[in-house]
Amino acid sequence: MAAAGSLSFLLFALTIFVFGDGGIWASATNVTYDQRALIIDGKRRILVSGAIHYPRAVPEMWEDLILKAKDGGLDAIETYVFWDRHEPSPGTYNFEGRYDLPKFLKLVQKAGLYVILRIGPYACAEWNFGGFPVWLLDIPGIHFRTNNEPFKRRMQSFVKKVVNLMKEHKLFAPQGGPIILAQIENEYGNIEWSFGAPGKQYMLWAANMARGLDIGVPWIMCQQSDAPEYIINTCNGYYCDGWMPNAANKPKMWTEDWSGWFGSWGEPVPHRPVEDLAFAVARFFERRGSLQNYYMYFGGTNFGRTSGGPYITTSYDYDSPIDEYGQLRQPKWGHLANLHKVLKICEEALVGGDLRYISLGRMQEAHVYSNAERESSLATVLENNLFACVAFLANIDATSSASVTFNGNVYILPPWSVSILPDCKQVVYNTAQVISQSATLRMEASRLQRRDLASNGSLVSYPAKISGALVWEAYKEPVRVWGGKILKTKHLLEQISVTKDTTDYLWYRSSLQVSPEDLLDATPVIEIESMRDVVHIFVNGELAGSTNTKNVGLYAKATQPVNLNAGDNEIDILSVTVGLQNYGAFFETWGAGIRGPVLVRGLATGVRNLTNQLWKHEIGVKGEALKLYTREGAETVTWVPNSLTTSQPLVWYKGQFDAPEGDEPVALDLGGMGKGLVWVNGKSLGRYWPAFRAPQNGCSQKCDYRGPYGPSKCVTGCGQPSQQWYHIPRAWLEPTGNFLVLFEEIGGDISNIQIVTRSTNSVCSYISDAYPPPVSMWLEHINSKETHKKLTTPMLELQCPTGNLITDIKFASYGNPQGACGSFKKGSCHAESTLLVVKQACMGQESCSLTLSWKTFGVNPCPGLSKSLAVEAICRPPASDIFIGDM
Ligand SMILES: *[C@@H]1O[C@H](CO)[C@@H](O)[C@H](O)[C@H]1NC(C)=O
Ligand SMILES: *[C@@H]1O[C@H](CO)[C@@H](O)[C@H](O)[C@H]1NC(C)=O
Ligand SMILES: *[C@@H]1O[C@H](CO)[C@@H](O)[C@H](O)[C@H]1NC(C)=O
Repeated sequence: MAAAGSLSFLLFALTIFVFGDGGIWASATNVTYDQRALIIDGKRRILVSGAIHYPRAVPEMWEDLILKAKDGGLDAIETYVFWDRHEPSPGTYNFEGRYDLPKFLKLVQKAGLYVILRIGPYACAEWNFGGFPVWLLDIPGIHFRTNNEPFKRRMQSFVKKVVNLMKEHKLFAPQGGPIILAQIENEYGNIEWSFGAPGKQYMLWAANMARGLDIGVPWIMCQQSDAPEYIINTCNGYYCDGWMPNAANKPKMWTEDWSGWFGSWGEPVPHRPVEDLAFAVARFFERRGSLQNYYMYFGGTNFGRTSGGPYITTSYDYDSPIDEYGQLRQPKWGHLANLHKVLKICEEALVGGDLRYISLGRMQEAHVYSNAERESSLATVLENNLFACVAFLANIDATSSASVTFNGNVYILPPWSVSILPDCKQVVYNTAQVISQSATLRMEASRLQRRDLASNGSLVSYPAKISGALVWEAYKEPVRVWGGKILKTKHLLEQISVTKDTTDYLWYRSSLQVSPEDLLDATPVIEIESMRDVVHIFVNGELAGSTNTKNVGLYAKATQPVNLNAGDNEIDILSVTVGLQNYGAFFETWGAGIRGPVLVRGLATGVRNLTNQLWKHEIGVKGEALKLYTREGAETVTWVPNSLTTSQPLVWYKGQFDAPEGDEPVALDLGGMGKGLVWVNGKSLGRYWPAFRAPQNGCSQKCDYRGPYGPSKCVTGCGQPSQQWYHIPRAWLEPTGNFLVLFEEIGGDISNIQIVTRSTNSVCSYISDAYPPPVSMWLEHINSKETHKKLTTPMLELQCPTGNLITDIKFASYGNPQGACGSFKKGSCHAESTLLVVKQACMGQESCSLTLSWKTFGVNPCPGLSKSLAVEAICRPPASDIFIGDM
């Protein structure tokens, strides 16, 4: 009894604690909200979140990504849940490997961050079919995302499955888990009107169904202005400062702040300047925002055939603060990290103070959060850096700076910027003044790990040009019937209904009899009136040409001149999907493939209509069915060594390579290839399509951050492949003998394929004496109580990637240097001593800092003028890593 007594005492003492997985004590967290913010354990919070989609990285990368997000000042990680992968067939579930959602969420929890779980289950996300399993199409009478019983039944069953799994793993906040918000549906408000009354009924059903699941944290719906009173509606977009929730008791939350945009085949690469992104975030919190989520914080990779579409690239980099390879994108990551630091300092005032609006000019305004009680009792500074008065000074003029007077002081506001004054006096952050360092990166042809002893005794390593040291082998995919599953009909079948999306490929095979008379002065053309996304048209075994519908229409016409023989002609059309539709009302009905009619024009005897003749639909290609991308599969056919190195359509290639030394991220350079699929060690890296280049025009040399952003602003890579490099996660590599397989559809130059590593070339920093001091320096200054002295000195900081040291200073100028990282130039004002001073401070160090003052450089090169400092430094691993001679 005594034992039982002490046990019950123990249980009583710990009622607010629950066991997390692995025996970690986790405390139950209470999440509610009011008009101002989410309330976590009784405290209103300003929260910064970032999207990381777990399957767009490999599990071995997850923890590092999460920690980099935490270092960047994030409070929460947001992710969608990917129904199609979690329920590959009805009632069969997969939560393994890249799809191990509980494991991912536990890593977020371990890092001490919260989770925003967007269950959907519609995800959009530029993900295949918007995240819906294709088997849904087989359910009789189903209509997606409307008041349709068969759909609702399936949706409810999956949402319940996810919620129960989360509960099982104790992942909701009241259970001691990290999930503080959950989302039902996704951007449904954008299309609800298309469904009429049943759309509204469905939305209300979804909301109510979610509420019934009793998860203990608030539910959200994004882009849903008619969300019911018990669901918080949220905003998605490039700017959400002017947006308000649909009821006075709901906090203002931004679920998708697009950090860039996704890539598309045949298009240049989008970039969103960090000055504009920071401006949007600052404006949001300036105007009563309480929770903001970067979409994406890490975009990652659409491995396999997961990319949506059509035409979404394999890279889902999104110009995120963490790049596709898991490396910090600078200065984006750093400039936002500084912003988050400042917002945290202001948190108390933002969630508790009274908000005052003050016009400062035609396009200038201040928002001031102040706590009158605190102001009178404690002057400006409170202990723990809690400020009683916080001001945001905004200049929304997209061209000019402005001089404004606020609180009796004069401030110069750069165009399209927000200055943040955590004590209503000192500017410690301006969104347009990027103090964070930037970097140039390079994709370097790596040296192979394998090293041989040269005759003189030193080690030799080979450049990883796969066709150089190693031998390619090829296997020709048959153009004619190869023995797959065939459906014969006297009409053309819709592609997804035939393939069930088990493959990108569907052959449409038929034949055409022509007489010598037909061919007199003939210029025959095969015309497919309506097709998507890509067709490769073969006549008598030869590729006549290819068509895609990008930039033309969902479905478009293919017009292909062909050579015909008198007699029987074999027509084999390979129809290819490039990611299933992921967006739009009724998208499940849009289908894919060749819809016809198919005509042959240009014959002497008139038009031939092939539409209703016999068509053999053969599913997939032979190499895929034989799994030639695996070692075992590859042994089932005879490969031809050293052949077919000239460009040819429909060829499988295999080769081997050793992993590059070091731990830098690895990629495959496929710049010379056409279109196809690529695997390493049996794992699909995704689709490649370098042959489809971005248009020559539309890129500008310089990206102007000022003014509203859109995806076509600040693009790069005009005239280039939309994606040249394909990420190979290190975790997928063996030290030697990695098995590389490509299926090339149209022909490419394999001799140019290279293994490259991605590394930092140099780091740069630029500051001007108009910039505020670093946040950390300002905080020190405040704490030193010498607040009567004005703090004005900005500081330049340089930091090499971990394990690297500054080995050289490529550029340094104190004066009025011009240009950007990698192309800095001296201006008319320059202190000759700069290089020496910077070298003394930085060489051999992992990081260094310099105060922007003439005293640092011993001279004042142009007295009376405003000055800046620019430095570019080379970072390299310490020299001991380079080994020559005996080992
Ligand atoms: C959670 O917090 C709310 C308000 O902050 C409070 O009313 C409620 O009682 C709390 N619930 C629990 C279980 O502590
Ligand atoms: C040894 O031979 C290798 C390869 O032939 C050459 O690259 C290297 O420079 C030589 N080293 C010395 C010390 O002669
Ligand atoms: C070809 O046949 C299809 C199916 O019968 C028909 O819809 C289409 O109008 C025909 N086109 C021409 C040009 O004859």
